[in-house]
Amino acid sequence: PVLVVDFGAQYAQLIARRVREARVFSEVVPHTMSVAEIAAKKPAAVVLSGGPSSVYADGAPQLDPALFDLDIPVFGICYGFQAMAGALGGTVSHTGTREYGRTELDVTGGTLHNGLPSTQPVWMSHGDAVTAAPDGFEVVATSAGAPVAAFENRARRLAGVQYHPEVMHSPHGQQVLSRFLHEIAGIEPTWTAANIADALVEQVQAQVGDGRAICGLSGGVDSAVAAALVQRAIGDRLTCVFVDHGLLRAGEREQVQQDFVAATGARLVTVDAVDKFLGDLDGVSDPETKRKIIGREFIRAFEGAVTEVLGEAEGTVDFLVQGTLYPDVVESGGGAGTANIKSHHNVGGLPEDLEFSLVEPLRLLFKDEVRAVGRELGLPEDIVGRQPFPGPGLAIRIVGAVTPDRLATLRQADAIVREELTAAGLDGQIWQCPVVLLADVRSVGVQGDGRTYGHPIVLRPVSSEDAMTADWTRVPYEVLERISTRVTNEVSEVNRVVLDVTSKPPGTIEWE
Ligand code: XMP
Repeated sequence: PVLVVDFGAQYAQLIARRVREARVFSEVVPHTMSVAEIAAKKPAAVVLSGGPSSVYADGAPQLDPALFDLDIPVFGICYGFQAMAGALGGTVSHTGTREYGRTELDVTGGTLHNGLPSTQPVWMSHGDAVTAAPDGFEVVATSAGAPVAAFENRARRLAGVQYHPEVMHSPHGQQVLSRFLHEIAGIEPTWTAANIADALVEQVQAQVGDGRAICGLSGGVDSAVAAALVQRAIGDRLTCVFVDHGLLRAGEREQVQQDFVAATGARLVTVDAVDKFLGDLDGVSDPETKRKIIGREFIRAFEGAVTEVLGEAEGTVDFLVQGTLYPDVVESGGGAGTANIKSHHNVGGLPEDLEFSLVEPLRLLFKDEVRAVGRELGLPEDIVGRQPFPGPGLAIRIVGAVTPDRLATLRQADAIVREELTAAGLDGQIWQCPVVLLADVRSVGVQGDGRTYGHPIVLRPVSSEDAMTADWTRVPYEVLERISTRVTNEVSEVNRVVLDVTSKPPGTIEWE
């Protein structure tokens, strides 16, 4: 792999993603990893991430110069660039000029920016600057505040940039990273969906052997792709369990029961728990109470299904498949080998005597890679391209108590919104668009000859990379107009459509 050494900036994961967009496998590792440990992983290259503003700051993480004795290609970014300059004998100075944000970069030569515009905007964020490159390095770009804004040593396969090539505000950044990986480090771009899928299938076969596995399907992308991979690896020794809690959107149950099964041939057990869930949610309007009830009932329903499958399976089910993704793994500080510890905590409350090992085939993948693998496995676009949808489903999109009528109203409005956004070609731009029914609010309207007294729905289209932060999507007025007209005409309980124009923070994506 390419190891992205995390110097404590929030950028390490993003860098890892960009490396993979260059079709090279990458992993994030902490800066506390020793050079010996790095060497043991036999990396194809090492990327040093950004970090604190100054290499001279108290407690600033150090870079062991022994890294450069390994004869491994290294690319430094921002703080990593300065640390690299320092470790190799260059000069890092307090110049007194800070650069923050969009900056003009002047390219003076070299491979990193070869073929790219000789002046280009880049995203900078630094106080100190490299004022002299280490011996043997060519200065290949400068900026007003960074006399050495990029350097490289092709013979030693070392290079670095003061700016952040990984952010979208550096429009040529991806190309620069690719030039380092492919041309300077000489790494072949082999990380493709087809190769990933093949490798993961083999990995699952090696892990599961001739054992049996079970997988909870939520209808979401991650569990569907995880299940499809495991199905391809072990066939009928996988049983998928789908709990219908009655809080799904229009068509979702059919998507799982028909489309997913048709595409994968997986064995599927559906648990119809609609009455139980809606009964327990009756009269409950507090969001956290809704979540607790749903979480508890979900586990009960899943547990019941597992017991049933165990009964049929004449033997044991040894493995539980989960669609854990790489960001969760990095965020919980987990590397390889932590899987079994969490086994029943993750599904919370499965009986203690069920000793599952976890199969998490997606634990090294980012969301876009999961989608690519899903397409590779032949899953339909309706499943693979699906927006994230919360576990508690429509229950947390009804502000007020959940009733079958309100669910029907919201389902109808949501289906129209999704249809129109897709028809307008906006799916790529929108991360998700919750449609929220303000069930406890009524508004007066006029329709035909009569006064109406209905409910508003809120459109909450957001753009995001990871749901941690989000911006409201500027959906064209014509599209909003079509949605508004259709929803108020076709959904009898709704007489008003409003648009949420709050970013996150301060607003969350969901309303509850
Ligand atoms: P918020 O509303 O916190 O949402 O900005 C961030 C992302 O998480 C989803 N979400 C949930 N997913 N259970 C889930 O599985 C939940 O209780 C839950 N609440 C929010 C939300 O749809 C968005 O993608």
